[in-house]
Amino acid sequence: MAAPETALTERFQTAFASAFGEEHRDANPIIRPSQFADFQCNAAMGLAKRLGMKPRDIAQKIVDAVDLEGIAEPLEIAGPGFLNIRLRTDWIAAQAAALTGSDLGVPAAQSPQTVVLDYSAPNVAKEMHVGHLRTTVVGDALARTLEKLGHTVVRQNHLGDWGTPFGMLIEHLLEVGEDSAEAELLATDPNTFYQAARAKFDAAETEGPSADGSDFATRARRRVATLQGGDAESLRIWEHLVGLSKGYFHRIYDMLDVTLRDEHLAGESTYNDELAQTCADLEAAGIARMSDGALCVFPAGFIGRDEQPLPLIIRKSDGGYGYATTDLTAIRHRVRDLHADRIAYVVGTAQELHFQMVFSIAREAGWLPESVEATHVKIGSVLGEDGKILRTRSGSSLRLMALLEEAVAKARTVIDELRPDLSEDERASIAHDIGIGGVKYADLSTAHDSDYVFDLDRMLALTGNTAPYLQYAVARIRSISRRAAAQGIAPASAPLVENAAERALALELLQFGPTLVQAGLQYEPHRLCAYLFSLAQAFTGFYEASPILKETDPEVRAGRLALAQLTEQVLVEGLAALGVNAPQQM
Ligand code: ARG
Repeated sequence: MAAPETALTERFQTAFASAFGEEHRDANPIIRPSQFADFQCNAAMGLAKRLGMKPRDIAQKIVDAVDLEGIAEPLEIAGPGFLNIRLRTDWIAAQAAALTGSDLGVPAAQSPQTVVLDYSAPNVAKEMHVGHLRTTVVGDALARTLEKLGHTVVRQNHLGDWGTPFGMLIEHLLEVGEDSAEAELLATDPNTFYQAARAKFDAAETEGPSADGSDFATRARRRVATLQGGDAESLRIWEHLVGLSKGYFHRIYDMLDVTLRDEHLAGESTYNDELAQTCADLEAAGIARMSDGALCVFPAGFIGRDEQPLPLIIRKSDGGYGYATTDLTAIRHRVRDLHADRIAYVVGTAQELHFQMVFSIAREAGWLPESVEATHVKIGSVLGEDGKILRTRSGSSLRLMALLEEAVAKARTVIDELRPDLSEDERASIAHDIGIGGVKYADLSTAHDSDYVFDLDRMLALTGNTAPYLQYAVARIRSISRRAAAQGIAPASAPLVENAAERALALELLQFGPTLVQAGLQYEPHRLCAYLFSLAQAFTGFYEASPILKETDPEVRAGRLALAQLTEQVLVEGLAALGVNAPQQM
């Protein structure tokens, strides 16, 4: 079975070769969905240029040469040389029949790749903010999608678990007591813990250092040094701190139905032992050089505001390493040890320059060969209704867990109203799927690099491009299936594709495979969302025009039931690729 674009492309390229010579076989037929037919072939303009002929003449030659026997009705030339393609309904029906019970038209990857996906990456002892919600949700959808396409995904959660804040965090933890209620905050409300430590540090800074060096700020600085020096006691407390934070992150991941587990943690600290080597290698290769006491790389083509070459500092003048050194070490590890064919970093747009510089240096050092693609999947901001970065009224960043709980509670009121007949447990589980699904889907349906306004009412609406709309479509088909089964009606072995609404729905179904490929390999989950929305709309159109259980002709009824069930499978599979659950009923 083949998606229409694939089948048509093959036939057109054969025609190009026979009409214009073998060297033109590779011309792109540019098959696009069209409002005038099912598809349009826009190859004539490009070929006309290549061949020095009029586009309409080229179009005529293509029409004469192309063999679409069995696939399409006779072609029509429109405008300057567009070719309108109307597929044969029996061909669509045969393709749709082939989707049933198979892989739903998802092509197995010709050459499976190893894709290293860097996503989520919250910072220890800090609240996961809504920005991390997006990097988590988008990254997880990409991981699931790429796995469905047959690629090997290596998840890397590049946790912020190292750096100067750990001095003050450790000192604060020692002061409140490692088993105190305040320490427990790290696992429930890390921001409060972080802010308490920060407040102590800032107060001590304002007061100035005490003569005996026992003030908080001085102790915190000393602690950073002993920690980085490998002091066993400091490391033990640091681990305790990281452990409590991990517990918090995993509760969020569970709540979000995200696939990240402990084994995917590869925090910044993982690379500590290799940072010196990274610097030494870059220096030996002549890529890094000393500048003002710091070891710097000036990658070609990066110019600062002052018109001077822009440095990436890889070793500070005090000997410390930072975020950039860690990322350079990580990229080397990902290619050399994890055997990445592609690496994607699902990280906020603000870090664009950082990644450009890291990629450029890694290429120069030979750690990132041209054959390995590295992509920064830029994540836009989540905004409040005022159009500014989402914050609580008090101005602090929002507690993610509280936000998710609110979403589930809101979904609960929706489902309580919709289905008072269901049991308490059933309603709780559906509310979870709708609430969490709604939040995740809102994130995924926006292009990842655009900003969006966080609006729970819109996310949970039963109409529009939302998870609840799609979940409702699935639940509706499942309810039809249950009623059919109760009446002893079985689906036909192949879906019925005859009238216009059935035909439109079947055409949508054929697009699942190509859309999934695009969403995965181009890192664009919002394409899959747009597709599922348009599929659900086509289903609504079909269901209005073509009754199922009320239909009296048993063959038609069974054929439509099969078409509806195929739609359900594609919707569920598509939502699963996004990490959104579809409840049995709504
Ligand atoms: N922890 C960082 C932050 O919160 C994101 C890390 C992204 N990944 C990476 N390899 N740099 O901004």
